[in-house]
Amino acid sequence: MSAPTVPPPYTGRPVSTVAIVGAGSVGATLAYAALVRGAARRVVLYDINKAKVTAEAADIGHGIEFISQATIEGSDDIEICRDADLVVFTAGAKQDPGQPRMELAAKTVGLVKKVLPTLVDIAPNAIHMMVTNPVDVVTYAAQKITGLPSSQVFGSGTVLDSSRLRFEISKECGVAVQNVHAYVLGEHGDSEVPVWSSASIGGVPLLDWRGPGGSPLFTEEVRSRIGHDVVHAAYKIIEGKGATNYAVGLAVTRIIEAVLRNEHRVLPVSTRVDDEFLGISDVCLSMPTIVDARGARERLGVPMSQHELTLLRESATHIRDAARSLGF
Ligand code: LAC
Repeated sequence: MSAPTVPPPYTGRPVSTVAIVGAGSVGATLAYAALVRGAARRVVLYDINKAKVTAEAADIGHGIEFISQATIEGSDDIEICRDADLVVFTAGAKQDPGQPRMELAAKTVGLVKKVLPTLVDIAPNAIHMMVTNPVDVVTYAAQKITGLPSSQVFGSGTVLDSSRLRFEISKECGVAVQNVHAYVLGEHGDSEVPVWSSASIGGVPLLDWRGPGGSPLFTEEVRSRIGHDVVHAAYKIIEGKGATNYAVGLAVTRIIEAVLRNEHRVLPVSTRVDDEFLGISDVCLSMPTIVDARGARERLGVPMSQHELTLLRESATHIRDAARSLGF
């Protein structure tokens, strides 16, 4: 009986490749989430810690039989990121308990300065998504360092914070979180702004939502409590388990899907804002933005109250001051 014929090796364009820089808790969880959700068919994980990165890739790879067909490779050689379609930067210092994200700025921007130029060289057509904190300052610095169009270098921003807000609103009113539409905008950090005035639940304006007794459910007190819990969520989780990783992994996976599937999805990612109407310029912060295969595209002017706009401008100043202090 003749030997079975083996087809020639596939030489067409490889499937979309996501390169994740950093195999810490966020990077490894992101690799896992992206593969489990089928957001990426090829994931490469890069970290200078060879033992860690190869172990994370092996541990995830051993489970691929149970999810959609995909491949994952890990290496301490940055070459593994060559020709990636999307590079996600998660490497850098993590917050200590009680430490504001902004305090990581100098250390993280120093790492980005060192690594990002090589990533741009080996993946010149990639979209670059910054996740490392403080993500808005890091995104602004990354745009300056690379000189790439601002649509091609953006940050994960407040996608995570907005999901936290929607989660808390869902718990309060008992409606599925998928039917809650609400944004946190501005800094991914202490000055972030929950935008209550344009939030809605199943199409009903949130501020009109009535509780069981027929009275408004989202009173000033309820909004203040939820807003505080959202802004301080990461601090509380870090106190309890040392770092956050699951929700940020899922939030960034959602952004990966919008890019690799060219979804034109509206997401509050961190991108360059120069907008006279908002009175905000020369800064990266989160506003609702259409995300597709070409990166962070058109920004939407979401309605907000004068108070919310004032807080957004203050958030912009906070981010810009931090970037200026690092020479950007
Ligand atoms: C958090 C980290 C990702 O908010 O900044 O969980």
